[in-house]
Amino acid sequence: MQKKLSLAIYKELSFQSLLAMGSCAPNPPVACILLVKVPSSIKLIGGATEAPGERHAEIVCLDEWHKLYNKNKNKFRAHKLRLYTSLEPCNHQGRTPPCTQSILAEANLEVILSWERDPFLSKSGLATLAQNGKRAKFLISKKNKTSSVTSLGQAFLSGYLSRITKSRPRFHLKVACSQDGVMGIRGTRLPISHTPASGLGHLLRAKFDAVLIGMGTIITDKPRLDFRIDTLEQSDLASVLSTSSKKNRNKNIYNKGDLFCDSLFENITRIINQLSKSHLSYQPERVFILGRYNPQIADFFSFQLRLTKKTHKEAVFLVEKRYHKIWKKVMPQINFYDVLPSAYQGKKFTFALRKIMSKRGYNEVLVEGGGGLFSMIKKGIDQEDRIYILRSKKYFQEIVENLRVQNITKLSKEKNILRVPKFMIKAPVIKDYDLGEDNLELRMIN
Ligand SMILES: NC(=O)c1ccc[n+]([C@@H]2O[C@H](COP(=O)([O-])OP(=O)(O)OC[C@H]3O[C@@H](n4cnc5c(N)ncnc54)[C@H](OP(=O)(O)O)[C@@H]3O)[C@@H](O)[C@H]2O)c1
Repeated sequence: MQKKLSLAIYKELSFQSLLAMGSCAPNPPVACILLVKVPSSIKLIGGATEAPGERHAEIVCLDEWHKLYNKNKNKFRAHKLRLYTSLEPCNHQGRTPPCTQSILAEANLEVILSWERDPFLSKSGLATLAQNGKRAKFLISKKNKTSSVTSLGQAFLSGYLSRITKSRPRFHLKVACSQDGVMGIRGTRLPISHTPASGLGHLLRAKFDAVLIGMGTIITDKPRLDFRIDTLEQSDLASVLSTSSKKNRNKNIYNKGDLFCDSLFENITRIINQLSKSHLSYQPERVFILGRYNPQIADFFSFQLRLTKKTHKEAVFLVEKRYHKIWKKVMPQINFYDVLPSAYQGKKFTFALRKIMSKRGYNEVLVEGGGGLFSMIKKGIDQEDRIYILRSKKYFQEIVENLRVQNITKLSKEKNILRVPKFMIKAPVIKDYDLGEDNLELRMIN
């Protein structure tokens, strides 16, 4: 494949994967490109998997191609087709018919190239196409598993592949902190991030399947956790990113490690436009882990139920086993989805949590804190997971001085200060982005 064309295909597959993310779980966010070749020109048609029960990426591409062809049969008389998919096409009747059948019906489609194997299909996707006369192959062999082409799968399909093979979605741990690593004050809401970073927070909520928080955060911040398109649109994120990307103009981002953020930022305007058109389709489920009983949750609980009606996405309540009885007795109206082992049981707790997330069909889970929850899930963190530290350029003292809150000096005594857990700070930075008054440090465990 010519270098220029392969980069164009790779970029478009990344963009289409991003379009799919956040709206198609439990299905994988698959991207597809149909290359239409006529003697004088080449055309790329992109497709992304739609909501569950709707079209897979391959069918989106083929439908688009049929429309184009029917409009101008003369122009495409001598056409040849080639299909690129980020994951091998499905070969089973699920909510929709098998994609392999639609591909086989396309006489002029001779070559199918896929990036990742789908463990759910037991190798039957490309094999079926090959057995029926198509040239079908994977672009990655086991040998070059670490090459840059794998980053397409790592960036967009890791959560799905991990859920299918290990009953474990990918976790994205996001935290805001001051320059010196303070993430909060016990019992007091401490706004740290500036508007572009808040916009990014909403973008991540839109692109991941669920948002998860712990009890201390519920009590202190009473967050909504829904995706709010107006906050994203008004956040200046797009212009801040375009300024910072100019500084990095010569860097070829597609040659480097983690592709998700790079691709998200490069396509930021197109992604925001798409979200503006259909923001309700990109609402995450909101997941809350209740711990020690605290009566302050009553209002929060009814507020979340109202939000469910508005967003059409569920508020899911989980509870630690040691506190289940008291919650049932005092607030029987809370309908718990499941009961978790007690947090002090470390690995057992995280293992059960991941399993529940997997059972709900989440591929990608955004963990928004607080520090206690991060530490609780630390034991189960692995290489697929990501850490996003939104670090303010201001020190804690400056942030506090700008706040007009009574007793703030007393509250910000050392014993009330919450710092970002060490395991997150110590994880190596794989990318660093300038978001104006904050920096985004993208880290991963190695
Ligand atoms: N900067 C950020 O990005 C960010 C994000 C989220 C939250 N935060 C801040 O982090 C703080 C919350 O973190 P966290 O570590 O306390 O909790 P957390 O991680 O949200 O939840 C974990 C644990 O919170 C404890 N908890 C804390 N306060 C409680 C209360 N008043 N009532 C009942 N249980 C309570 C419980 O354990 P125990 O029984 O052991 O206390 C619970 O199991 C808040 O100040 C919040 O503003 C900051």
